[in-house]
Amino acid sequence: MIAAATGARLFKIDQEIPYAADYDTCIAQTKKDLQAKARPKLASMPEGLKEYDEFYLGFPNYWEDMPMAVYTFLENFHWNGKVIHPFCTHEGSGLSGTVQKIEKACKRASVTKGLAIQGGSVDSAKAEIEKWL
Ligand SMILES: Cc1cc2nc3c(=O)[nH]c(=O)nc-3n(C[C@H](O)[C@H](O)[C@H](O)COP(=O)(O)O)c2cc1C
Repeated sequence: MIAAATGARLFKIDQEIPYAADYDTCIAQTKKDLQAKARPKLASMPEGLKEYDEFYLGFPNYWEDMPMAVYTFLENFHWNGKVIHPFCTHEGSGLSGTVQKIEKACKRASVTKGLAIQGGSVDSAKAEIEKWL
């Protein structure tokens, strides 16, 4: 929806080795990675961000944080002068402290007020998303 409204190019942050589809296994894997501050290798990484000034950074809230793969992505680049608009889906925790975490990981970037949408309400969130944009 955001890409359609803004014309932004899409890049999906995918881990080279995805978490398990089985819920309990996924819970254990993600918790372990969170505690270890893991930086899972990504399936692919953009070569550089030079041609872009503005980013919409989306992620699901995991453990009141971002999935560790998002840190792998953010820490791979210099963010001086870039603008980042964070948005997440969640099941009650909203953005948690992720805006501050993005500011810390992306030195000298300008991080705007984020948007949190409950996962199950995404399909009916178009108006809210457009207002945020
Ligand atoms: C490992 C894991 C940890 C999660 N931790 C949280 C959490 O701390 N707070 C929260 O609101 N939602 C949490 N969620 C729910 C996800 O944010 C939610 O599933 C995701 O945003 C997608 O929404 P959907 O499953 O309704 O499509 C967690 C989900 C998973 C799989």
